[in-house]
Amino acid sequence: MSLWMIDVLALLPQTWQDWIMPPSTVPVVQNNPAKVQLSRISHVYFDHGDLEAFDRFAKDFGFVQAERKGNTIYYRGYGRDPYVYVASQSPTRRSRFMGTAFVAKDQENFDKALALPGAVIKDLEETPGCGRMITFARPNDTFFHVIYGQTEREFVEIPTATHDYQGPFNTPLEKHRKGRFQRYHDGPALVHKLGHFGYVCKEFEQELDFYTSNFNFVHSDILNLPKLPHIDVMTFMHLDLGKVFTDHHSFFLQRAPPGTSKTYVHHTSFEVSDFDTQLMGHKYLANKGWKSVWGVGRHILGSQIFDYWYDPSGFKIEHYADGDVVNEDNPTRKEPVGPVSVWGPELPKDFGDNKAR
Ligand SMILES: [Fe+2]
Repeated sequence: MSLWMIDVLALLPQTWQDWIMPPSTVPVVQNNPAKVQLSRISHVYFDHGDLEAFDRFAKDFGFVQAERKGNTIYYRGYGRDPYVYVASQSPTRRSRFMGTAFVAKDQENFDKALALPGAVIKDLEETPGCGRMITFARPNDTFFHVIYGQTEREFVEIPTATHDYQGPFNTPLEKHRKGRFQRYHDGPALVHKLGHFGYVCKEFEQELDFYTSNFNFVHSDILNLPKLPHIDVMTFMHLDLGKVFTDHHSFFLQRAPPGTSKTYVHHTSFEVSDFDTQLMGHKYLANKGWKSVWGVGRHILGSQIFDYWYDPSGFKIEHYADGDVVNEDNPTRKEPVGPVSVWGPELPKDFGDNKAR
């Protein structure tokens, strides 16, 4: 819903407002040990209409192929997850988002997830790192996965495809880099890990209740409509790990505006190491002819430096760096929807739209 529509709605009598957009307040939730404890986000699944086209994009985006099995490609970053993105050829040639997998904290919590209604378990023995996965089919063809027992990757240093020499950085008063030079060359922005994803969700309250009642998702920021503060429309959620710091959001849900026909994934987001990497990656993707969505800029909530692109199927995919981390001492904040960036190009008017095909 655009800002002018909200302005008009705010002028209508309360009963009309409630009929067009019913009041909806997202309750602040607390984690507790009875819920399934997830330790981190791991990977996403997509069916692509043209897998070979996606494979070309994936290399330019900074994914590394971990393994290919027939019509499924497992891409990894350089983090501990054996893969962060699983792309399959769509049998119907229609592209679909097939859900995100999170890692259970331990066997006990994996078993707890298995006891939830709708849980379907399968072995991942044919995949890099193996392990087992539980899938929950949610409304509107969305899926949520919990994994456990994967063999993790080991890495000791951050690889780069663009940096010959970088750092330390000089500041106006302190010149840490003396007699040495910053040198870069063209290449993709190598991905570290999956950071977050989110839906524009038709079943906003129902799905929020499913995720926050059963798992350790806690709200970082809940956003309401300016002029209509009784309508919460967006939440950024993190995994509560107690005193351990975790990404400001690994999952967000946006209430689908009136007229939205179906829940859809808004974007998926992958971490890269630094600002130079992002700008080098942006230049590389642009030179390869891929289509930019929005970026490079700096978000406000989560503080990430962002850069959004369309993949060949029309899904939005983001590089991010320098995101905030929070822990149990950061309270949930409630605020009106405001500007999305502190700097960067103007927000595209169609940023919220679903262009996947
Ligand atoms: Fe994002």
